[in-house]
Amino acid sequence: MQPMLNIAVRAARSAGELILRSIDNIGALKVHQKSKNDFASEVDKSAEYEIIRIINSAYPEHSIIAEESGHHPGNDYVWIIDPLDGTTNFLHGFPQYAISIALTHKGKLTQAVIYDPLRDELFCASQGAGALLNDRKIRVSQQSHLQGSLLGTGFPFKHQKHLDAYLEMFKALHVDSAGIRRTGSTALDLAYLAAGRLDGFWEIGLRPWDMAAGILLVQEAGGVVTDFSFDHHFMKSGNIIAGNPKMHQIIYNAINPHITDSLK
Ligand code: IPD
Ligand code: CA
Ligand code: CA
Repeated sequence: MQPMLNIAVRAARSAGELILRSIDNIGALKVHQKSKNDFASEVDKSAEYEIIRIINSAYPEHSIIAEESGHHPGNDYVWIIDPLDGTTNFLHGFPQYAISIALTHKGKLTQAVIYDPLRDELFCASQGAGALLNDRKIRVSQQSHLQGSLLGTGFPFKHQKHLDAYLEMFKALHVDSAGIRRTGSTALDLAYLAAGRLDGFWEIGLRPWDMAAGILLVQEAGGVVTDFSFDHHFMKSGNIIAGNPKMHQIIYNAINPHITDSLK
């Protein structure tokens, strides 16, 4: 395994252990409300601290962007960390959350790890080397029609101004797809897409740490990810469409009439 990926795996597993140890104590955790519907618990913070500690001890010169502690400046290797993607699920005992760690070099995604500590599922990707789930190669699905497809999404709960546009997109896809899932962990949704468990995905208003690792996983599993302008500025806009090449196009075509200028 690539040494930098190895460090990311070690950090994700260690954070996973920490999260699992706190499960019996969720009710007693200190929870901070960052903004409306946006929470961070002391577990988010200590998991992030643990990940940064492990990365820092191996690569003290690297930069870090982490959800809870922000930007730690360094060289042109940048780690993008979400210590607990699916915090609301976690706080409710709803078993769907993960640790997400990505590495970029000069702006290009090079390594990705998403770890589900409850199922002990480790999703990894290195640029140009494919994507793995627990050492087994994964590929996006071969689904080629909306009919029969299973899609993932996230609701724009922090971006109410986009709710009407989003609901039109939802209607356009809901009519023909076999189902649409909103799991509450975008990192796992993208990992599931890479593993062929979902056929397509779209969401509005993501932050880099929600999607960075998942994007590389999808790409390395043979999928396509774009923003709502069919371009690659998703880290900036926060809006993504992902799928195998056919499903990506199908989702884009279906939601395109509802993409307002401010979503492009
Ligand atoms: C959230 C999850 C969710 C997405 C939200 C994110 P968090 O991350 O990824 O699926 O819809 O936009 O904020 O806050 O649980 O790390
Ligand atoms: Ca997140
Ligand atoms: Ca988080």
